[in-house]
Amino acid sequence: MTEPLPDPALVVLVGPSGSGKSTWAAERYRGAEIVSSDDLRGVVGSGRHDLAASVEAFELLERIVAGRVRRGLTTVVDTLGLDPVRRGQWVGLAREHGLPAVAVAFDVVPELTRRRNAGRDRPVPARVLAQQHKAFRDLDLSAEPWDRVVTVATGSAPEPRPTPAEPSQAKAGFDVVLQVSRFPWGEDPAGWLRDIALAADEVGFAGLALMDHLIQVPQVGTAWEPIPEPWVTLGMLAGLDTRLRLGTLVTPVTFRPPGITAKTVATLDVLSGGRAFVGVGAGWWEREHLAFGLPFPPRAERLDLLESGIETMRALWAAGTKGYDGERVSLPETTAYPRPVHDVQVVVGGGGERRTLRIAARLGDACNVASAVVAQKTEVLRRHCEEVGRDPAEVAVTVLDLPVVGRDRDDVWERVERLRGRTAASTYASRHHAGTPAQQRERYLALAEQGVSTVFVALPDLTGPDAVLEAGGLLP
Ligand code: CTP
Ligand code: MG
Repeated sequence: MTEPLPDPALVVLVGPSGSGKSTWAAERYRGAEIVSSDDLRGVVGSGRHDLAASVEAFELLERIVAGRVRRGLTTVVDTLGLDPVRRGQWVGLAREHGLPAVAVAFDVVPELTRRRNAGRDRPVPARVLAQQHKAFRDLDLSAEPWDRVVTVATGSAPEPRPTPAEPSQAKAGFDVVLQVSRFPWGEDPAGWLRDIALAADEVGFAGLALMDHLIQVPQVGTAWEPIPEPWVTLGMLAGLDTRLRLGTLVTPVTFRPPGITAKTVATLDVLSGGRAFVGVGAGWWEREHLAFGLPFPPRAERLDLLESGIETMRALWAAGTKGYDGERVSLPETTAYPRPVHDVQVVVGGGGERRTLRIAARLGDACNVASAVVAQKTEVLRRHCEEVGRDPAEVAVTVLDLPVVGRDRDDVWERVERLRGRTAASTYASRHHAGTPAQQRERYLALAEQGVSTVFVALPDLTGPDAVLEAGGLLP
């Protein structure tokens, strides 16, 4: 399998006329990403073959390439590519702006370009074509500072698209849960939520998670957008005929006394037939606490609350009614009915290495960390497990991912442009792993290989059930 080309990147095509450069580019990149000297001759001159317009066409080409590369946007330079001075400048430009520079050489036999050339409206003179072939044979791209040199040879099938690994390679137990964090539900909140959940179940999401916030967070939307109380909402979803696991990502310990959360989660577990899970965290957003009249103690204290909170919940879910006398918590009795009907998974949110991951190692069933730092956090978690005498296999690693998913390259970039706000498109695209469902799937399988058990997927442009159905393509 050919390694996929880096993206974003500066991609410079090199090959004689008729070697298939423009065809190759059009099959892989968006029109706006391809900067073609022929097209620009048609813009400043009388047509694509107006050689008298070459100087101005190349001036324009250089400006467009420089502008795009400076913004970190993928740029395909579609010229003959046979001028070493220009090639050197393009590599230098990419280097300067931190973009990988790729040369794609079209190594086709002269016989083929001659035949293709003869069939064109305005064939290149045979002598010129022969010169191009000679220039192409004489150049040695491997001696130039490209990050990658790819050769497209005569008769070779189009470079294979990366094929996703087989799901069987993923670790057993890997699943993808839809995280719903925005609620553009219009006039029918309950209907909207029901349709989202039914769509998620239909396409095969393993569960549905809700944020637990009192005010919509600025990362997702504006403060006056609706953000429903998650446990009430999950209670409604529990009544639908789905197999979805239901829970929060994550419930701050500062919102409700942990005994009440234990009661709520146990109730959801019973009503949903054993499908509840609970994410717990120390809470981080002071504003929502102040607005709702809740104390917001310093971080160290909130982490203490997280630790004692999980202990309290576990005590109230365990069998029996006896008194509980634990490390941080004492309860005169643990009479709490209904008990959950299955082992409720406790996902500890946050990657704080000193305390949060230690709490996950001691008391969690999972910890939820950022996808970019999975390897590092997993290692820290493993060390904590060792120190507290817990089998690391008992603590799963989960990830929250916010991908921009589009049907194809054009759709992906339209979405990026719509969603990016004031963030540069290339920055937004890389932060949100903008790509097709197949590209997301590959990434998730790679995370599974790293030991991630669950990916929580939050779609930045979740508008309704159709968006969930479309995103179904990313499921392994
Ligand atoms: N072609 C083909 N099979 C390929 C690639 C190209 O049949 N795998 C044909 C195209 O349909 C076109 C011709 O070959 O009719 C030239 O391809 P093109 O991509 O236009 O070649 P370029 O290298 O871009 O030529 P130029 O430098 O003249 O722009
Ligand atoms: Mg061309």
